[in-house]
Amino acid sequence: MKTKPIVKKLNFEPNLKDYQKTYDSFSYFDEAKKFENLPDGGFNAAYTVCDVNAQNFRKNKVALYWEGEEGEEIKLTFQELSLLSNKVGNLLKNLEVGRGDRVFLFLPRIPELYFCFLGILKIGAIAGTLFSAFGPQALEDRLKNSDAKILITTPQLYPRVQKIKQNLPNLKTVILIDEENRTAFMKEAKLKKPGKNSYTWFYPLMEKALEKLHLASMKPTDPAFMLYTSGTTGKPKGVVHQHKALLHECISARYVLDIKDTDVYWCTADPGWVTGIAYEILGTWCIGSSTLVYGGRFDPAKWYDLIQEYKVTVWYTAPTAIRMLAASGTELVKKYDLSSLRHLASVGEPLNPEAVNWGQKAFGLPFHDNYWQTETGGIVIANYPSLDIKPGSMGKPVPGIKAEVINNQGQPVGPYKEGNLALKPGWPSMMLKIWRRPEKYQSYFLKNWYLTGDKAFKDEDGYFWFISRADDVIKTSGERVGPFEVESALVSHPKIIEAGVIGKPDPLRGELIKAFVTLKKGEKPSEKLKEEIQTYVKKHLAGHAYPREIEFTDKLPKTRSGKIMRRLLKAKELGLPLGDTSTLEDY
Ligand code: PRX
Repeated sequence: MKTKPIVKKLNFEPNLKDYQKTYDSFSYFDEAKKFENLPDGGFNAAYTVCDVNAQNFRKNKVALYWEGEEGEEIKLTFQELSLLSNKVGNLLKNLEVGRGDRVFLFLPRIPELYFCFLGILKIGAIAGTLFSAFGPQALEDRLKNSDAKILITTPQLYPRVQKIKQNLPNLKTVILIDEENRTAFMKEAKLKKPGKNSYTWFYPLMEKALEKLHLASMKPTDPAFMLYTSGTTGKPKGVVHQHKALLHECISARYVLDIKDTDVYWCTADPGWVTGIAYEILGTWCIGSSTLVYGGRFDPAKWYDLIQEYKVTVWYTAPTAIRMLAASGTELVKKYDLSSLRHLASVGEPLNPEAVNWGQKAFGLPFHDNYWQTETGGIVIANYPSLDIKPGSMGKPVPGIKAEVINNQGQPVGPYKEGNLALKPGWPSMMLKIWRRPEKYQSYFLKNWYLTGDKAFKDEDGYFWFISRADDVIKTSGERVGPFEVESALVSHPKIIEAGVIGKPDPLRGELIKAFVTLKKGEKPSEKLKEEIQTYVKKHLAGHAYPREIEFTDKLPKTRSGKIMRRLLKAKELGLPLGDTSTLEDY
């Protein structure tokens, strides 16, 4: 490709020293042998992640450095993480939660999110996470489809749950985290009494729960956690991952993020999304590194301050954040001592060469782009410390992953030819299933390939280059948004009759959400109405999934069967050729 490769001179020894040699000789079977199983021979990802470390020389090592928006600080050692998650396991057992039951966490980035997640896995239940920006509609869709039995949330987020609780007959208990009792609990001080019946408080239950837990002995293929993600059509789908996903998450954390147990690692993602689970809880703790979690909002000065204060060595973030940091200037960077940084990585949306190079300029280190999806459960294509970076490329397949660019018949296309980015099924973190939608799961496969839904090409050196989504899924600030969900929220507005939603290229956010809206008879378009609609979507669906741009239109392009043709809306918006319009009804 045209971009000049970045040839690096490393002043450290990376975990992956010789990419090709490791790739060629790699075997999951050999890797699995290195994992410590439960004493009875069963497997439980949460055991490997925290109990093993709590029993070895890392017992008193800090696993979690947490800092809240107000500067509050909490440190949890591996032993504390293990005991707290044991207690969560018992707390849930006391509520009759068993294997396979779904327990959802609707929480901001607070310490409880992390040890509750592990506690759920420990008893063989399935953990689900919900992004804290979700509104009642998004919550209802996910909690209903999963038939969640328990929801753990905060008093601040609870009002959104209250609005939909009557529609969720299988939601047995809502537990609210009483943060004010956290410190007291940790010091074993007196605790408040449980609240009224529509919910119950967390710490009084924790007080009653035992510290000793009999861990569920799972098969590696048993479900461990699930995340809802969006496609082009229909409601979000529940992607279920198995306990053995940990294997690939740990290997990729080691090779791609270059995690060593001496690292202080900061992943800026939220566990409401898959990155925060795979590389904030599972893969990286498994290696025994210390993880920093910042509960506050994005703020360039604060972010640099955190790196300086905690002496962060490995930093994993996203292109939109990098572009925002770049916009805040290199001068700001120079005010901080960021010399602890060793390796920078990025994921979630295309990382433009300018952003890679800005890392080099500002931190003396380039950002290493990597690629994966909720469904792949872990990084599948990446740039590595020991390989030259071609800025703009996602890099090469992770050891254990066979990636290819194929045509619609399932045949590999040659170098530089655009095609479907596909993977050979069978890696351990490949989704186990789509919750209650086997036909959806099947739709991911073509012949013997797993289809990512992305278009890409490969160059002559085996580097993969992202081109675009093959479908209408929107990536805004790295977050995946399904147009159908936004359209459904829009048409539930009393003044809207129809809506079509697209992702429009945006230099900062990658894409922004644009909605084309047809109003009901008698309703007048206005700027005020646009704002009203935006607020409505933010409140009902999610804070991050509202259309930043709205265009009122009298008619939307539709197929003769009545399906809105988003492809045409996008082509018109971008001034591109309209392509095949033979199925278009009169427009
Ligand atoms: O379109 C690709 C884009 O994000 C999608 C997956 O989104 P999600 O399931 O939310 O997973 C996020 C966890 C990483 C992909 O299908 N994507 C992800 N990484 C990249 C990317 N697009 C371009 N370059 C990347 N590095």
